[in-house]
Amino acid sequence: MSIAPTVLDRIQRVTQAPKVALHEPTFGGNELKYVTECIQTGWVSSVGEYVNRFERELAAYTGAAHAVVVSNGTSGLQVTLELVGVRRDDEVLVPALSFVATANAVRHCGAWPHFVDSDVCTLGIDVAKLEAYLRDIAEQRNDGCYNRRTGRRIAAVVPMHTFGHPVDMPALVELAERHRLEIVEDAAESLGSWIGDRHTGTFGRCAMLSFNGNKIVTTGGGGAIITNDGALAKRAKHVTTTAKQPHPWAFFHDEVAYNFRMPNLNAAMGCAQLERIGQFLEAKRLLASRYVDAFRDVPEVSMFLERPGTQANYWLQTLLLAPEVAAQRDEILATTNAAGQMTRPVWELLYTLPMYSSCERMATPVADDLAQRVVNLPSSPQLMPGVV
Ligand SMILES: Cc1ncc(COP(=O)(O)O)c(C=O)c1O
Repeated sequence: MSIAPTVLDRIQRVTQAPKVALHEPTFGGNELKYVTECIQTGWVSSVGEYVNRFERELAAYTGAAHAVVVSNGTSGLQVTLELVGVRRDDEVLVPALSFVATANAVRHCGAWPHFVDSDVCTLGIDVAKLEAYLRDIAEQRNDGCYNRRTGRRIAAVVPMHTFGHPVDMPALVELAERHRLEIVEDAAESLGSWIGDRHTGTFGRCAMLSFNGNKIVTTGGGGAIITNDGALAKRAKHVTTTAKQPHPWAFFHDEVAYNFRMPNLNAAMGCAQLERIGQFLEAKRLLASRYVDAFRDVPEVSMFLERPGTQANYWLQTLLLAPEVAAQRDEILATTNAAGQMTRPVWELLYTLPMYSSCERMATPVADDLAQRVVNLPSSPQLMPGVV
């Protein structure tokens, strides 16, 4: 029997609206005031007080010593990978279940993604499985960890905190130390997600955040690099701002670098959004509990919830279909979207995309299974109007 009508009914009970997007930004705070100020003062472009302020406030919020804002998360991830030493023809371990940008950033460095399976408890990299896999395929040489099969160096691992649910970072940090791998966290989706009292993105050497239009805090488009490593932060600022040496009037650039700057206009929006992150998080948590209640009498599905000891930001609300109804996923998606309730499947697994189909990978049965069973539900904070 089809469960699509039931799923639609339960979503409608929660959203209480005829047409609902997957995730819309909320602008009810100081966004207009700060952006208007940029326009009135002329400080709209790549330097300005809001850029400095957004960097300070992101560092304070995440507890990272430094934040460097950039044009988007993808460019931030590319730069951080380069800065931790990823070189052309290295391999970088990335989850098969991720947005395409995670692998693209690796390729932008000239390196190769090497795909890893997921943990059904976190939706992120399965650390125990990765440990067993590396014992099998990798060996230590003088300058690091090598893939015996390809002869390439495995330089780094990129955990991604899927929909705001933290990867088991303490275990991954230990693994990375044992195998001499750098960790760069793809925290694009996890601003406001914590493991104990540590923010995601502060476990590895550095991390990237995204402020794309669909993220919990948006700058329209934008990203940030966060790190506790002062030297790395300084390099990140330098190479993302054309490597110009500071001088009142001379244009001296000391290396080939990027223009990956975040304009002041966008940073102004980011400052206003960050002022309200507490409300956004509260709304999303409440929304998750409303979905839990709504689906309580539907045994074929369950909401994916935070693990004990972690606090997820519930960026995208995630419904898991039981294996016996996984074949109904597309019918559920078609029924809900046709009725104006926007739902989405998870991304196509990265190794199935044409440009990544010949990359190295471990067997990924869990990611393969999750890819058939995940349905993201309407997740905007404004669905809880009493809170935002
Ligand atoms: C997991 C993940 N990685 C990377 C990115 C890329 O960020 P951006 O769109 O800011 O380049 C996103 C989101 O867009 C993402 O969800």
